[in-house]
Amino acid sequence: MIGTSISCQVTFLPSERIIKINSGTPLIRAARQAGLHINASCGGNGVCGKCRVMIKEGVVDGGISDRLSLEDIRKGYRQACTAIITEDIVVQVLEAEGLTAGILGTEVPERHRAAMHIFDIEELQEEGIFIPPVEKFFLELPRPDLNDRQADAGRLLRAMDEQYDERHIYISHFLLKRLRRVLRDDDFRVTATLARPVNRRFRSRLLNLQSGNWTGRNYGIAVDIGTTTVYGQLIDKQTGKILAESGDYNRQISYGEDVISRMIVAEKPEGLKKMHDMVTRSINNIIDSLLKQRSIDRDEITSITLAGNTAMTHLFLEIEPHNIRRSPYVPVSTMFPPIRSTDLGLHLGGHCMALLYPAVSSYVGGDIVAGVMGSGMYRTEKLTLFIDIGTNAEIVIGNQDWLACAACSAGPAFEGGGILHGMRAGAGAIEDFSLDPITLEPMNITIGAQPAVGICGSGLLIIISSLYECGIIDQRGRFNQKLKNERIRQGRSGYEFVLVRAEESGIERDIVLTEVDIDNYIRAKGAIYAGVTTLLAEVGLTVSDIEQVILAGAFGSYIDLDSAITTGLFPEISPDKFLYVGNGSLMGCRMSELSNHIRRDVVKTMQRMTGFELSEVPSYKDQYVASLFLPHTNAQLFPRAAERRQVMEKLKEKAELLA
Ligand code: FES
Repeated sequence: MIGTSISCQVTFLPSERIIKINSGTPLIRAARQAGLHINASCGGNGVCGKCRVMIKEGVVDGGISDRLSLEDIRKGYRQACTAIITEDIVVQVLEAEGLTAGILGTEVPERHRAAMHIFDIEELQEEGIFIPPVEKFFLELPRPDLNDRQADAGRLLRAMDEQYDERHIYISHFLLKRLRRVLRDDDFRVTATLARPVNRRFRSRLLNLQSGNWTGRNYGIAVDIGTTTVYGQLIDKQTGKILAESGDYNRQISYGEDVISRMIVAEKPEGLKKMHDMVTRSINNIIDSLLKQRSIDRDEITSITLAGNTAMTHLFLEIEPHNIRRSPYVPVSTMFPPIRSTDLGLHLGGHCMALLYPAVSSYVGGDIVAGVMGSGMYRTEKLTLFIDIGTNAEIVIGNQDWLACAACSAGPAFEGGGILHGMRAGAGAIEDFSLDPITLEPMNITIGAQPAVGICGSGLLIIISSLYECGIIDQRGRFNQKLKNERIRQGRSGYEFVLVRAEESGIERDIVLTEVDIDNYIRAKGAIYAGVTTLLAEVGLTVSDIEQVILAGAFGSYIDLDSAITTGLFPEISPDKFLYVGNGSLMGCRMSELSNHIRRDVVKTMQRMTGFELSEVPSYKDQYVASLFLPHTNAQLFPRAAERRQVMEKLKEKAELLA
């Protein structure tokens, strides 16, 4: 459950910057959000002692360590990395005025903001389409007598028609066998669970019958099957509310981090079953956790909607994915029928239906279709660019009238792959960063304020952007060898920058960013940028035509926009056109659980999505090569980024003159 947090006002001196921040936020994060740099090289290990600030008014929680003398503490000094804001405070930052990141005048984006629900339950209600695909109906049937000898099944169907206007219903042999007893157990008062078809030509299906009134207990589950992580939500289908959330690693990960290696495993004897069992165990774990959190019985779940990329969906359904990875890249199917959840090995009742999101192609899967639905892109007039950066990057461009999509093989850099000290976002990962442009002292901010142990995707982006803005690396990502600073040094694989020294890190080794890491990042961001510009060109549009950008996916929620644009990951588009939706795939699944109307729209939307195979578009390679620079070979495409670098250079010159 999400609680409401108290907002605190933090005033930073001498700049007099004021920001509002949630109670419980570490002071160092507040400084970063205000665009201020505080030397913090150990990332919160409490070892470097460089992040001292003075609390002039108010009180913070913590922030005391043996790096501070009693005298310091008495004067109000605290360590910004471990000091927690609990009330309004005034803080004196000890850095020289004029050397802060904030003086660049750039808008510091609101980072880590909560997922924005663009299309939500209220809209479904207002539009009268809050009609779940699987619903419960309470019926009071007339008892049979000499004047009414209609059979039990006919009696039930007649009541559905008369009381709810529901016709053309199929009753299975399984339910017919139970019907007599269920009707009579509570004097012909029954609850019928009905599954509506996507296509109106087909019949509705009676899934379950219960004696008495159980309409108040109708729950669904939404699941996003990610390559790395699986997330689930428990949904009350009466109110549309999310009752519980849970996540787990996709257990297939023990057979390889990427989709290709798992498809290779699936081709071996018993491999497909193994892949199915692994991901099913993760989903079952999530189901168990969701039910436990709200003390709900598994028989009360009437449907589960799942979305994943095409390979993940095939593996989950135990469908051979062999041709997904072989030219001409053909999946077995892009549409999947409703399946009894028990047939898939899910820990749910036999009547519960599993509904799978359809895919567009081998490389644009149901998770992206779900994201387009959940974010509301499919029904907006605005020309929208949708980007989902996860293990792969998928791009969709269009609006309510048309949609074009493509997948980019960006590589695993954003998840820490191919980066010497790269890691997934977890405790101790450097996720935020700033650099003192004169001393080159870093401000490392780690997840959980833990000792730094590596760099996650969002940190990588900001570190490279800061190094570039401060002139430490050039457009090609090469270190400026003329700069004399002990943090820049020759390492085993070329030049590198020391972010955290061994004695300050959580791994007892220096944490560095190397030229090879930067190369890998440039290739990853180049693939995404080239994907966007190529797809735009294919549909006859340019960057200036885009009216809004929707960022989805685990990484998308944590992207620092300024850094993304400075390094050329995204085209230079005004920051206020960017929207974050978080896990769009999960949001789409939830919407489908609540509205059969949306399920129908899913099919229409998926059929409108034209897939492009970027590797077959001749201009893609040229676009890609041109993108292998920071931010791009053509600097005119990124005027704001150039301006920021110039401002930084002037600042440095001014500071050097003053020194
Ligand atoms: S002691 Fe706070 S960052 Fe090192």
